[in-house]
Amino acid sequence: MKNTLITLLNQKQTGDKITMLTAYDYSTARLVDECGVNSILVGDSLGMVMLGYENTLPVTMEDMIHHTKAVSRGAKNAFVVADMPFMSYHVSVEQALTNAGRLVKEGGAHAVKLEGGTDFCDRISAISKASIPVVAHLGLTPQSINSFGGFKVQGKSLEKADKIVKDALEVEQAGACALVIECVPAKLAKLITSLLKIPVIGIGAGADCDGQVLVYQDMLGMFFGFAPKFVKQFENAGDAMRRGFSKYINETKSGEFPSEEHCFGINDEIIKQLNNKYGRED
Ligand code: KIV
Repeated sequence: MKNTLITLLNQKQTGDKITMLTAYDYSTARLVDECGVNSILVGDSLGMVMLGYENTLPVTMEDMIHHTKAVSRGAKNAFVVADMPFMSYHVSVEQALTNAGRLVKEGGAHAVKLEGGTDFCDRISAISKASIPVVAHLGLTPQSINSFGGFKVQGKSLEKADKIVKDALEVEQAGACALVIECVPAKLAKLITSLLKIPVIGIGAGADCDGQVLVYQDMLGMFFGFAPKFVKQFENAGDAMRRGFSKYINETKSGEFPSEEHCFGINDEIIKQLNNKYGRED
């Protein structure tokens, strides 16, 4: 069944948890989509997990469009959300509108996601008025890493928690179709989820959100070094890949691969004539 904005809204109303996973390429999008995920996020986390940057700041619009196109080709039923990268919506409403349009027209995204609350409501409003659904992103917003001074839990003090609640209410008011809330105390996310009519999708925000999102490399053990506390490793694909790559290397070196079953045949007479012609034995 095709997932749309209406599907996600209905899920909020019926309590059917929304599942969202990141994907950045065609084959992963196909796999995730075949498993029945509701939504695929082409996150700017691709800068870190696919391109090897230290944070998401260097990601460009061209990067996002390139990966969103691939994901859109693989996602048959999932609702595809593409991240607006750092500085692609900060300069002006016009810039935000132009770039959101590119992610839909060129990338094939169904919706865009941008980080920020009150300060970005004019962008959210303009983009959604252009019939492009906007997912807002609050809490730990990785594009503000330099202002936060690191990847830290947000909204622990009364003042900061209340600011996140106000931002959530305002982005909804501005027209956001959903909210991603990252790395905040579970009870704060629960309060926000109960206050908003739009779906609230959590990452590191506890079990009471309307849905969950994870970066697929994190949940499949395909990372190097630090894994955030909120990540559950559902499988160890990283080790499975390492095992597969090592087997390939060993079997190729030993000559075990490729064996008869992986080879194409040729008529004996033809190869005999060719071997004779070029002075080689069969
Ligand atoms: O870029 C991303 O993958 C995200 C998720 C962490 C929510 O924004």
